[in-house]
Amino acid sequence: MLPSFTSKNSILHCSLLFISIILSCMPSPVLAETGNETDRLALLAIKAKITQDPFGLASSWNDSVNFCDWKGVICGELHQRVITLNLSHHDLVGSLPPQIGNLTFLRGISLEQNYFHGQIPQELGRLFRLKYFNLSNNSFSGEIPSNLSRCSSLVWLRLGFNNLFGRIPSQLGSLQKLERVHLHYNNLTGPIPESLGNLSSVRSLSMSINSLEGSIPESLGRLKILNFLGLGVNRLSGTIPNSIYNLSSVTIFTLPFNQLRGVLPSNLGFTLLSLQVLNIGHNLFTGPLPESLSNASNLVEFDINGSNFTGEVNIDFGGLPGLWSLGLASNQLGKGEADDMNFLNSLTKCRNLLILDLSDNRFGGVLPESIGSLSTQLVQLKLDGNRLSGSIPTEIENLVNLT
Ligand SMILES: *[C@@H]1O[C@H](CO)[C@@H](O)[C@H](O)[C@H]1NC(C)=O
Ligand SMILES: *[C@@H]1O[C@H](CO)[C@@H](O)[C@H](O)[C@H]1NC(C)=O
Ligand SMILES: *[C@@H]1O[C@H](CO)[C@@H](O)[C@H](O)[C@H]1NC(C)=O
Ligand SMILES: *[C@@H]1O[C@H](CO)[C@@H](O)[C@H](O)[C@H]1NC(C)=O
Ligand SMILES: *[C@@H]1O[C@H](CO)[C@@H](O)[C@H](O)[C@H]1NC(C)=O
Ligand SMILES: *[C@@H]1O[C@H](CO)[C@@H](O)[C@H](O)[C@H]1NC(C)=O
Ligand SMILES: *[C@@H]1O[C@H](CO)[C@@H](O)[C@H](O)[C@H]1NC(C)=O
Ligand SMILES: *[C@@H]1O[C@H](CO)[C@@H](O)[C@H](O)[C@H]1NC(C)=O
Ligand SMILES: *[C@@H]1O[C@H](CO)[C@@H](O)[C@H](O)[C@H]1NC(C)=O
Ligand SMILES: *[C@@H]1O[C@H](CO)[C@@H](O)[C@H](O)[C@H]1NC(C)=O
Ligand SMILES: *[C@@H]1O[C@H](CO)[C@@H](O)[C@H](O)[C@H]1NC(C)=O
Ligand SMILES: *[C@@H]1O[C@H](CO)[C@@H](O)[C@H](O)[C@H]1NC(C)=O
Repeated sequence: MLPSFTSKNSILHCSLLFISIILSCMPSPVLAETGNETDRLALLAIKAKITQDPFGLASSWNDSVNFCDWKGVICGELHQRVITLNLSHHDLVGSLPPQIGNLTFLRGISLEQNYFHGQIPQELGRLFRLKYFNLSNNSFSGEIPSNLSRCSSLVWLRLGFNNLFGRIPSQLGSLQKLERVHLHYNNLTGPIPESLGNLSSVRSLSMSINSLEGSIPESLGRLKILNFLGLGVNRLSGTIPNSIYNLSSVTIFTLPFNQLRGVLPSNLGFTLLSLQVLNIGHNLFTGPLPESLSNASNLVEFDINGSNFTGEVNIDFGGLPGLWSLGLASNQLGKGEADDMNFLNSLTKCRNLLILDLSDNRFGGVLPESIGSLSTQLVQLKLDGNRLSGSIPTEIENLVNLT
């Protein structure tokens, strides 16, 4: 066996010397050669698993050129060890061999937009320096390796658009530096691990379009700097834990197409005060719309289509100047009474409104003339399936962009 940088002997050797510590810790030529030979062999093992290479990326890897100059390979200048492997956007077909775990100096791996298949090797857990792990848009299958939790430097974990299945390993909750977790468009099942509430650096948590089940863990309410929460198109059930409404940094909150139920808290607009996108449609929510949404002044998109909300629309849209999409369709809003549509008056203050869908509710009365004062940018207006009567105000002709 050849010695390696991190062998016990070399650490002991360094710590015993007190005068020329720095010098004696510098890699000796022998160690460097050991290291770069390991990296060369690992890269060749990766090349050997690539079966189609239409742009000749890995097929150009040969020993007439130092591997640090191979396409897609970046080495650290000091150690001549591979620190970045970037094979993205090359339509490569192949799988990843376990030897990738030998590239122990790696800080970034990007294989995005290729056709890699097979499992993500558990050996990746050896890459304790790895910060960026981008595998989006491939055909990786199998489970997310639990050993990824040993990559303690990991900042980005992008595994979206693959065919991963099985459960999300609860061990991932130990990754204290993780900022982006993208697991969307896979076939993951089982619950969202409670341990993900320990990801104290996480800003973006995207798990949409999988088959996740169970309820949303209360622990996610501890993610104080969370910005994006995407849980749509899964099989989540139960109510949204109150802790989630404490996520004052969340700007994008989407969980459409689940089986979530319950009533929204009346102070939602005050607690989720950074909210820009709230998309909770196609669930089983009931009860009134929280009036406090009038105060969610950053809201640009609000979608509750296909749920079971009731009562009048008592939101003052004048406080939401950036609103461009309002989808209230297929609920039980309105009381079939004359003043049901009064909220259109405040909606005229939303000068960016492009989409307004009020179809399939219980709105009654006549359409107010103010409908003609809605944003002239309005493209889509749906009112069908209600209890409206009277004529359509001629002012509607002001809405010149309606399609
Ligand atoms: C490996 O490292 C040695 C010593 O630093 C150097 O002479 C040699 O060129 C390196 N080999 C490769 C393939 O980088
Ligand atoms: C080795 O790779 C270089 C480019 O990296 C290429 O120019 C050369 O033709 C290759 N040699 C062989 C024998 O494939
Ligand atoms: C990876 O390579 C692609 C295309 O070859 C390039 O567009 C991209 O900027 C590279 N990314 C990194 C992080 O080097
Ligand atoms: C590289 O990794 C493989 C599989 O994990 C292992 O069997 C092999 O000994 C390693 N090779 C070197 C040169 O470190
Ligand atoms: C990972 O992907 C992101 C977004 O495409 C990119 O900004 C980043 O540089 C990538 N990282 C690596 C190591 O390729
Ligand atoms: C995935 O990659 C394929 C082929 O490169 C490309 O056509 C497709 O648009 C990509 N999809 C996403 C979501 O990036
Ligand atoms: C996975 O991690 C465990 C420790 O958690 C370790 O014992 C095992 O060797 C690792 N597996 C691989 C294939 O690296
Ligand atoms: C996802 O997994 C389920 C259950 O294991 C399976 O029935 C389904 O075919 C899978 N879907 C895809 C797109 O792989
Ligand atoms: C991580 O989360 C779990 C479940 O929420 C908890 O029991 C555990 O103590 C947490 N671990 C750490 C290190 O914070
Ligand atoms: C919400 O945050 C406040 C203040 O940080 C805290 O006192 C309260 O317990 C939290 N509520 C929930 C349900 O987590
Ligand atoms: C809405 O509630 C009604 C009863 O109030 C019920 O019959 C209907 O199934 C519910 N629809 C949805 C989508 O939950
Ligand atoms: C909330 O919005 C309403 C209606 O726009 C407004 O009257 C009220 O002053 C706002 N409250 C706060 C605390 O901003």
